[in-house]
Amino acid sequence: MTDALADAVRRAVGAVTDPELRRPLADLDMLREITVTDGVAHVGIALTIVGCPAATRIEADVHAAAAAVAGVDAVQVAVGVMTPEERRALTERLRDGRAPRQMPFGPDALTRVIAVTSGKGGVGKSSLTANLAVALAARGRRVGLIDADVHGFSIPGLLGIAPGTQPTRIDDLMLPPVAHDVKTISIGMFLREGESVVAWRGPMLHRTVQQFLTDVFFGDLDVLLIDMPPGTGDIAITLGQLLPHAEVLVVTTPQEAAAEVAIRSGLVARQTGQRVIGVVENMSALTLPDGTALDLFGAGGGQAVADALSQDADPVPLIASVPLSPALRTGGDAGVPVVLSDPADPAARAILAVADAVDRAGRGLSGRPLPFSPR
Ligand SMILES: Nc1ncnc2c1ncn2[C@@H]1O[C@H](COP(=O)(O)OP(=O)(O)OP(=O)(O)O)[C@@H](O)[C@H]1O
Ligand SMILES: [Mg+2]
Repeated sequence: MTDALADAVRRAVGAVTDPELRRPLADLDMLREITVTDGVAHVGIALTIVGCPAATRIEADVHAAAAAVAGVDAVQVAVGVMTPEERRALTERLRDGRAPRQMPFGPDALTRVIAVTSGKGGVGKSSLTANLAVALAARGRRVGLIDADVHGFSIPGLLGIAPGTQPTRIDDLMLPPVAHDVKTISIGMFLREGESVVAWRGPMLHRTVQQFLTDVFFGDLDVLLIDMPPGTGDIAITLGQLLPHAEVLVVTTPQEAAAEVAIRSGLVARQTGQRVIGVVENMSALTLPDGTALDLFGAGGGQAVADALSQDADPVPLIASVPLSPALRTGGDAGVPVVLSDPADPAARAILAVADAVDRAGRGLSGRPLPFSPR
């Protein structure tokens, strides 16, 4: 009788998911001794590391799951730590047979990699990337986001990830923090207080970006978005080499003067083999309450970039024009992207249309060579 009760508790507790690893505790071998005596459930669990940031949440979830089992009157949770051997077994299982330091986003992977780039800085690339990531996650896609703009990282703030938040480490595997269902990694999470990357040189940047791709445990993803630094510098070239099959979204403003550098960033990406899937124009005309349009940055830049990047066999569409939007800015400042905080806002609607287009394009249009050649 009591054993049956202990089994019921084990099943309930085993179904609790680890918020970082996003798998049930039973699958992660985190359950230890579980007994029920006189209605009191004693539940032992073992976490990956001491002081794991998710520990409080796991303990509370375990407590609630055990307490919900009929016949359990009280619960005592004992939290322990895995042995190094247990941890090694776990990281091996999480890697799914891949050797450490092997890149899971190669051309054969099922994950679409989409790099968001721009020529000029400050055109709203990070805001768009954060919103797009969240919009795709809200559609049920498994989304990862790499903030590769190592000098101007802003993704953690845009997603409301508290300053000082770091990835959890299980030995040499790093678990990215999750915000609005998006697994996110940023150089900002690795800097000590007051430290800056401004002085970092090419090789160090190269290694860091490479590490994002190899040592961060994203698990199975449908889409990996990359917020690129503006322009065509070291990082763009590194990522072009590491991810030659990536798709590229080019962000620009309506201003003709921004078009030329945006076109160049698209051409550089294409040289590495990446495929430009579309252009997003940001900061386009704002419609005022009286119905007139305020086009602060002019008009036509997005279409000009799309036209210039189009090739006969490979047209590059202007996917959307995202208007200037106070709600987009305040959403970013508050860490709740506008597609969530105010989905009816015109900018949010435009970005949701980008998410639809990107989602529809799917893997089939991602530029992977087809396994047969057309006649
Ligand atoms: N459509 C928009 N309407 C109003 N404000 C916007 C819009 N898009 C971006 N912004 C604001 O413009 C500023 C720059 O945006 P963001 O940081 O996303 O650009 P970026 O291209 O990533 O810049 P950087 O080159 O510095 O990385 C931010 O303050 C953001 O809130
Ligand atoms: Mg940015």
